[in-house]
Amino acid sequence: MHKKLILILVLCFSLQLFAAKPFTANVDSLLSVMTLDEKIGQMTQMCFSTITLDGSKTLELNVDNFRQLIQKQHIGSFLSGSDSYAKWFEFITAVQKIAVTETRLGIPLIIGIDHVHGANYISEGTIFPHNLMLACSFDKSLLEKVAKVTAIETAPVGLSWNFAPVLDVGRTPYWPRFYETFGEDTHLVAEMGSAFIKAYQNVPEIAPYKLAACAKHFIGYSDPKYGYDRSPSEIPMQTLHEIFVPPFRKAFDAGVKTLMVNSGELNGEPVHGSKFFLDTLLRKHLGFDGVIVSDIKDIERIVKMHHAAATEKDATLQAMNAGIDMYMACNSFTFIQYVNELLGEGKLSMAQIDASVRRILQLKKDLGLFEHPYPSKDLLRKVNSVDNRKVALEAAEKSIVLLKNDNTLPLGKNKKILLAGIGANSKRMLNGPWSFDWLGAAEADQPKTMLTLFETMKNSFGEKNIFLSKTERIVTAKDNKSFLKDTRKADMIVLAIGEQPYSEFMGNINDLTLDADQLALVDVAIATKKPVILVLMEGRPRVITKQAAGAKAILFAGYPGIEGAQAITNILSANTNPSARLAFSYPLAAGHTIPYNYKPSAYNIYWKPDTTLKWLYPFGHGLSYTQFEYSNLQLSDSIINAAGKIIATVKVKNTGKNAGTETVLWYIQDEVGSISRPIKALKNFEKLNLKADEEKMVSFEIIPSNHLSFPNKNAVIKVENGYYKIDVGGLYAKFKIENKLN
Ligand code: BGC
Repeated sequence: MHKKLILILVLCFSLQLFAAKPFTANVDSLLSVMTLDEKIGQMTQMCFSTITLDGSKTLELNVDNFRQLIQKQHIGSFLSGSDSYAKWFEFITAVQKIAVTETRLGIPLIIGIDHVHGANYISEGTIFPHNLMLACSFDKSLLEKVAKVTAIETAPVGLSWNFAPVLDVGRTPYWPRFYETFGEDTHLVAEMGSAFIKAYQNVPEIAPYKLAACAKHFIGYSDPKYGYDRSPSEIPMQTLHEIFVPPFRKAFDAGVKTLMVNSGELNGEPVHGSKFFLDTLLRKHLGFDGVIVSDIKDIERIVKMHHAAATEKDATLQAMNAGIDMYMACNSFTFIQYVNELLGEGKLSMAQIDASVRRILQLKKDLGLFEHPYPSKDLLRKVNSVDNRKVALEAAEKSIVLLKNDNTLPLGKNKKILLAGIGANSKRMLNGPWSFDWLGAAEADQPKTMLTLFETMKNSFGEKNIFLSKTERIVTAKDNKSFLKDTRKADMIVLAIGEQPYSEFMGNINDLTLDADQLALVDVAIATKKPVILVLMEGRPRVITKQAAGAKAILFAGYPGIEGAQAITNILSANTNPSARLAFSYPLAAGHTIPYNYKPSAYNIYWKPDTTLKWLYPFGHGLSYTQFEYSNLQLSDSIINAAGKIIATVKVKNTGKNAGTETVLWYIQDEVGSISRPIKALKNFEKLNLKADEEKMVSFEIIPSNHLSFPNKNAVIKVENGYYKIDVGGLYAKFKIENKLN
């Protein structure tokens, strides 16, 4: 009897230990009992590497270090790590348990991760193509599926905050984060980004768990004048409001809970210290009221990189006054010290600190962390990697762009195919960066369950038909000789060329031209006169103009993810009919990267009524194994006022022999503007599945305030009178906005 009682008591005690103290009171009552140190701790985010045994991202907890951080510094948030499901599960359970049961207030941690293309920091995670490629699908429903799978694979281990999506508009292909963007077009970035956010933050399957997305990086990060990562951007205010702000505005409408700041400087102001960008523009003008997190160690950068503050303490004051709620300090405690001192000196007010802590606690409350701080075995059991891999295959197939095809693809059966290049037999080149490791895991650490292009091609075309050349680049005469020898037995040559994965500043380059030794491989292959097919595995469009002319077919695969090889093979063999379109202009020359042929403020100039070639392949370009014909473009009206609307309709027919998916891209030109207007601006897009001979009508409801308006440099948005030209599938129609009409 006595023993039983003890057992019951022990059980109750351990259950009590493990049960979170449910938090039902409102955030303000919690705030009212917090000490200053506890508040600043909530505003501080540390890297998990500070509490692992070996200081790496591998998750072996150094319990003493962690207790120290949570009990003495009251840290409220952590980020980053890379490990298996089992390790993540154990690690986060352990840290949350200490946070919840061994601290005065029991506030759970909020844990952040960069799951930027799937659950890419979990060893068993499904790796999707990067955003640039997903954007080439022009398919919002695909983005929703990708977001959902990512959420379902991320939530079970308690990673409730995802530093995704990137909403920077990719205007500079030199920028080494180009592949993280949804491409160069504002409308496309806004649509894809908000589709991701809505889907990621609202996944019923993970209830009662909830997740937060993060709109990053506010603002102007992606157009550095000289291309390097975190180097200065200079963007006229009109352009900023028209091109760079809308994806964030749309994200706020979609309910994004958090936002990360641009590490670089914009128009001379380090954005982390800018009251103008973070308070006037973001908080007041755009009305964002969620949590603003800094990027990693960026208060230090205000001093060391931007030289816009003499000391880190001054920089801390700048960042706090600008409006940073949480500092991604990673491994330093100076933020805690300086905020404390600044408050003591009366330079910061308690009201400022309270406002930030309130937002952070509210976020934790909204995510249900007080009730459910621990990872969930139940959700973990429900992760279905087999089904998720199918979504990865679909995503890759819908993202790979067929750029050129001189009657060479699909590849016929029983042809002898030589496969060569740095991507021919590599998993790393498929998954790309931010895959198990910031720079992409080493070849040996890539998933065992995944196949390389060589392997999928053998499966599809027969082992005896596919040969792998050991020559990946031609540097020496010996390389040349051995590659030539390999080509002899081939009927055709597939070259998987491109860029080894890189992240952030590690991908800075001085020349967009693909490296000479890979181009030499292509040249030698073309000189054999055998058909050459290029598969581009790269994070940005590397210039290949001369070689593109000699190649018979070209696929842009980007970093297509864990099922990338199968998707490429399916397209090469016509198991899949390609449907993707370029979400960026493929440059013709290294010094002319975006086809501005007019003036720098007029973006989206994809077309001009002259014959000069401005790009290798324009934005929106992409081929299929069938043909589509557009006819019958009609407008419901020819003159309306700015409060009215016009419906445009067009007929699209599959005139080829195969079923296919057409991407209908609607562009509008404001013929004469009070400032120069884009010659072709994307305003709407839609995917259309059509069987051979099938035709469908497609329509687009043009609402002037939405599709025809533009901001001036003071962000005042208006619709101008005059003629507008609509352009779809090579057909044009005009209408007029006339405000006197009533
Ligand atoms: C990147 C962010 C990322 C953060 C945390 C930074 O270097 O700029 O995009 O979210 O690291 O990993």
